[in-house]
Amino acid sequence: MCGIVGYVGSRNSSDVLVEGLRRLEYRGYDSCGIASVKAKGGLYLKRVSGRIEALKGLVEADPPKDPGAGIGHTRWATHGVPSEDNAHPHTDCAGELVLVHNGIIENYLELREKLAGSGHAFKSETDTEAAVHLLERNVKELSARSSSGMLEPVFFEAFRRTLAELKGSFAIAAVWDKCPGVVMTARMHSPLVLGLGEGENFVASDVSAFLKFTRRAVFLNDGDIAAVRAGGAEFFDFAGRKARRDSVNIQWDSTMAEKGGYRHFMLKEIHEQAASVENTLRGRLLPLKEDTLAREINLDPAVLRSVKTVQFIACGTAYHAGLVGKYALENFQVPAHADLASEYSDRSKLAGPDTLAVAISQSGETADTIHAVREAKAAGARVLAVTNTVGSTLTREADWVLYTHCGPEIGVASTKAFVGQLAAIYVLAAHFAAARKAVFDSDARAFAAELLKVPRLIEDALAMEKEIEALAKRYADREHFLFIARHINYPIALEGALKIKEISYVHAEGYAAGEMKHGPIAIIDKGMPVLAVATSSRALKLMAGNMQEAGARGAEVVAIVDKESRGQVRASRYIEVPQAPEILSPLVNVIPLQLFSYYSALARGCDIDKPRNLAKSVTVR
Ligand code: G6P
Repeated sequence: MCGIVGYVGSRNSSDVLVEGLRRLEYRGYDSCGIASVKAKGGLYLKRVSGRIEALKGLVEADPPKDPGAGIGHTRWATHGVPSEDNAHPHTDCAGELVLVHNGIIENYLELREKLAGSGHAFKSETDTEAAVHLLERNVKELSARSSSGMLEPVFFEAFRRTLAELKGSFAIAAVWDKCPGVVMTARMHSPLVLGLGEGENFVASDVSAFLKFTRRAVFLNDGDIAAVRAGGAEFFDFAGRKARRDSVNIQWDSTMAEKGGYRHFMLKEIHEQAASVENTLRGRLLPLKEDTLAREINLDPAVLRSVKTVQFIACGTAYHAGLVGKYALENFQVPAHADLASEYSDRSKLAGPDTLAVAISQSGETADTIHAVREAKAAGARVLAVTNTVGSTLTREADWVLYTHCGPEIGVASTKAFVGQLAAIYVLAAHFAAARKAVFDSDARAFAAELLKVPRLIEDALAMEKEIEALAKRYADREHFLFIARHINYPIALEGALKIKEISYVHAEGYAAGEMKHGPIAIIDKGMPVLAVATSSRALKLMAGNMQEAGARGAEVVAIVDKESRGQVRASRYIEVPQAPEILSPLVNVIPLQLFSYYSALARGCDIDKPRNLAKSVTVR
């Protein structure tokens, strides 16, 4: 969790840092700060409890005079409440060294006790502060012993020694006012990337922070240190040995992460979903050939033939994509399970060399997902990553990576990444079907052909926006919602409920419609909105029965139907989506539920792109 940035170059570093933090605000937004060292010595530091806008105001009111290298941080609190004291950057006792950190330093209490015992004065409740005092102690010790008087080697070695004493996960960046031209940075289990410019260089948790300035990036590995100067970056391992790291060119550009006339990123991203699906499908289905994935990602059809079980592993919305994946693969006779990454531990015991673990993650950095992937690998499973983020940790842990080409997703509540994940999973299903000939070839091809029509159906579903806005307004004062569906749409009921919880802060349950009578039906009373996914399916009759049961107890049933199913279910209101084959219907049915949650949140005046207590990328377990 949290976003970090760093800059060395000739621009005013405070502008670059604040702009970078604004791009990373999705990673956490309860407090933030920047620091830079002055070219002639001394430290500039501004921190606020609150959003980047507040920090910007503070910096504009009192800008740095002669800014040198700088670092910044936007926080999602783990240790210590959101407050100015707990906001990063943190300083040492003398106010000369300053440091930002993303992750958790597990041995911070032990370090804190030791350092406080030797006279270090702590000013915050954070785990991070231990690191800056440790750095201070190491700088002092080494300076005292240094005969050359050269300060940068002292800074580097002190930084390196500090890292060696830290346990846990961290991406760290530090500056020292005695060395105004360098940012020291390092990574262990938390994301970190450098942006390489002309006579300037950037440090960030994710490329979006610097895409405006450069698209050339170097993704650091766990155990990497980089000494970043305006003229270039040097790489080392934690033992201090020099290392070589290659740069890659990022395809995304910074305008892709702008709102483009929409009121919120979430609404923009909802509207980008047809393109997301199209981009994710492109080149992977037409024609559907056995070796398509072998050519693209080196995933041999022999692997798909030999796999006995697929385990989808993911968190949050991505988990719902995994649940859809389970139904989709089972449709092609591939045994599959979906597991919440945070609950995976014992399930890894069932994994082995004939297991394919499919880890789904928009960011590719979710700590629970990465941890579960490591457990799956330790058990002998092979891992396919489905992710949107090039260079993310997940891509480096997995045996194969199937990218969802959705572009940057900024809204904390995932929408276009979700449909991209579904599209990637359906691609996988089609290739499983083709490789195993579990169905006649023509069926796999027919499936692929239907899949290619989905972007058009999504466009049509989006045309219902006004109707759904009115519906959301109608229910804007309700505090309880029930979402029901069956089979492959059951995860869509879960997703509908999650979306409205995340951004509208109302109570919502997603339930398998058949299970309603075993509990949740008790909460239904007069006027309670029950959103029922009732598009054409083999279970439609049963679904119709469940909707009657809810209606009979006073619920206002809102049915998501298609042309064919409309006349077969009774409801208070209907939302008619385009007709899709049952197996692909989640891709269409999720659209009205996303719009419903967006407009509910809007009607309730919620902070849609940055809902309270949440963050987009959760890099703590
Ligand atoms: C957070 C986000 C969710 C997301 C989940 C998993 O909770 O708020 O929107 O679904 O993390 O994220 P991932 O990057 O692994 O898909």
